[in-house]
Amino acid sequence: MHHLCIAIDGPAGAGKSTVAKEVARRLGIVYVDTGAMYRAVAWLALRHGVSPADEQGLIRLLRQHELRFERNGHGMFDVYVDGANITSELRTPEVSAAVSQLSAHPEIRRILTEWQRSFSRSQSVVMDGRDIGTVVMPDAPVKIYLTADIRERARRRADELAAKGFSVSVEELLHSLRERDERDTSRACAPLRRPDDAICIDSTDMTVDEVVERILSIVRQVH
Ligand code: C5P
Repeated sequence: MHHLCIAIDGPAGAGKSTVAKEVARRLGIVYVDTGAMYRAVAWLALRHGVSPADEQGLIRLLRQHELRFERNGHGMFDVYVDGANITSELRTPEVSAAVSQLSAHPEIRRILTEWQRSFSRSQSVVMDGRDIGTVVMPDAPVKIYLTADIRERARRRADELAAKGFSVSVEELLHSLRERDERDTSRACAPLRRPDDAICIDSTDMTVDEVVERILSIVRQVH
């Protein structure tokens, strides 16, 4: 493989997307936010009143609507549904509550996994999610498992949401992160787990910069 693939997995709120985005920027390669893809399906389901439990209904939605993923000028991963940019609507508590239920459906995962692989086939990417090192890019030369203490993750999410004008308590977020982690690790199809060959980074007491530097040093060692 001539291009570089970096897989970053970990539980909700560990800072994967912040770190992955910065690693991609520093290396001048593409960032692929797979959580945003699952969130886009949840967004569609909420908008059209389809239950996240209804796999066939979700598949129909995916056939009826055009989803597009694009890197914008700031290196961000933008999601378009039927031509409209919905990226800023993907990290709401409503979408977060629906997403881990629908991401357990094997057929939904198969469709999204195929889209995700198409990004890494021809170019260097940093991809983050739950099953990147285990399922989507099992041959990636750099695999990171990024985690952090759950209280710290809830605090970070609260700050992130507050910056967007949502006021959600740390306790509430703690509860929803726990629920999401539980669903993501216990589902039968492509559950969240640390790939055997991944390097684990616990970011509880680390700054974003420190985590980014650590990943870049791992990249330099293997590439
Ligand atoms: O990373 P993010 O919090 O945006 O992911 C939202 C949800 O999408 C996760 O809780 C998980 O249920 C699902 N997901 C997944 N596989 C991925 C990425 C996300 O199942 N590769």
